[in-house]
Amino acid sequence: MAARHAAPALPMVSPATNLAALPGVPTGPEPAMKRYIQYPRVAGTASRQAHADFPPGTYEREMSKEGFFGPAAFFHHRHPPTGWTSFEGPLRPHAFDLAKLGGAPLEAGAPVTGGAAAPLPATSPWAEHECLHNAHARIRWWRLESSMDHLARNADGDELLFVHAGRGELYCDFGRLPVEAGDYVVLPRGTLWRLECAAPLALLLVEATNSTYMLPDKGLLGNHAIFDPAMLDVPALDDAFRAQSGRRGPGGAAGEDSWRVLIKRRGAVSTVTYPFNPLDAVGWHGDLAVCRINVRDLRPLMSHRYHLPPSAHTTFVANRFVVCTFAPRPFETDPGALKVPFFHNNDDYDEVLFYHAGDFFSRDNIHPGMMTFHPAGFTHGPHPKALERMLVQTKPGTDEYAVMIDTRDALEVAPAATAVEWTGYVDSWRGSKSRGQTP
Ligand SMILES: [Fe+2]
Repeated sequence: MAARHAAPALPMVSPATNLAALPGVPTGPEPAMKRYIQYPRVAGTASRQAHADFPPGTYEREMSKEGFFGPAAFFHHRHPPTGWTSFEGPLRPHAFDLAKLGGAPLEAGAPVTGGAAAPLPATSPWAEHECLHNAHARIRWWRLESSMDHLARNADGDELLFVHAGRGELYCDFGRLPVEAGDYVVLPRGTLWRLECAAPLALLLVEATNSTYMLPDKGLLGNHAIFDPAMLDVPALDDAFRAQSGRRGPGGAAGEDSWRVLIKRRGAVSTVTYPFNPLDAVGWHGDLAVCRINVRDLRPLMSHRYHLPPSAHTTFVANRFVVCTFAPRPFETDPGALKVPFFHNNDDYDEVLFYHAGDFFSRDNIHPGMMTFHPAGFTHGPHPKALERMLVQTKPGTDEYAVMIDTRDALEVAPAATAVEWTGYVDSWRGSKSRGQTP
């Protein structure tokens, strides 16, 4: 816990980071021609190890480039960086209670963003509530109370389903795949699919617009860390799939037995009607498929001596955004190591957190089904109650599941999310009192 005193300025070193390998880092045709202006130095009374051994009575805040991958500075403040008394202007954190969004579409037959009016069925994933979006990611909340009466195909990008509640069966080009709470399901762009409900489903949908979900480079950890790729399940062409292949369609304009396929392209939905069920493959081969993994199958990284940044929990990467999963893990045990998230400003990323299950140890007044949005530049960190446990935790580990979506480009808040916003969220850090000690 002893603070280090100022060390002499260190010589400037060349950055060895391979920028091209980092998610979200814009790379031009000649990435090797770019170098950070980088100064490893220590000034004043400071720790030389991030997230540990702070000067007594201080609060660490990180300012960084490219999320947690680029150059960073760590400040030791006398007061909590979230100890403001008022916060005015357009830069605001948001918290949305998605559980309050109903199962019905906002407007019957409403077009999806940017599209021509199309009469969408109530069970369409695109008739539901869009919450946040930019050119590379669209985040939707979807409650499916009854089975889909049509097939869907997203031609705008890969779709990630995260099942918050309920259970059912996914039928798609590749076969049948059961889904339940905690499942991630990646639907490659072009996949034809529908969901049958065994219990009403609540899902978070994250569209990777015009791009592809991939796995992060595990680097020194090797390919089998966090989750083994062998844990990814794919659909099966089983008896249940074959039985539904011959089933008559739920009907539509073309007749009682027809199947409708709703295809979304450039935000507009078109309807194609078949006199048979298009999910009728008798076989397939290849190295592209729908895949599924449950959050309970993740084995999160941790260090007993160092609070790892959220990027250590990266689960999927797409173009200009990443999806990370916070899963239960032991707390750090080193006396000087930080035991809560560090204060920071998301300097290059907008940050979205969806709270799935458990006790969210760094947040007060947040319950499952809520989603927070911290735009770049907004300083945040543990809430007041969590801050009291900055260096000493009373429990052996965290008990939370949450999905984080970090986008390199600014997100827009859609009206549906605003309708269920907790406007007092910006004040929820009030009471972040100093511990009365100054270095
Ligand atoms: Fe953050």
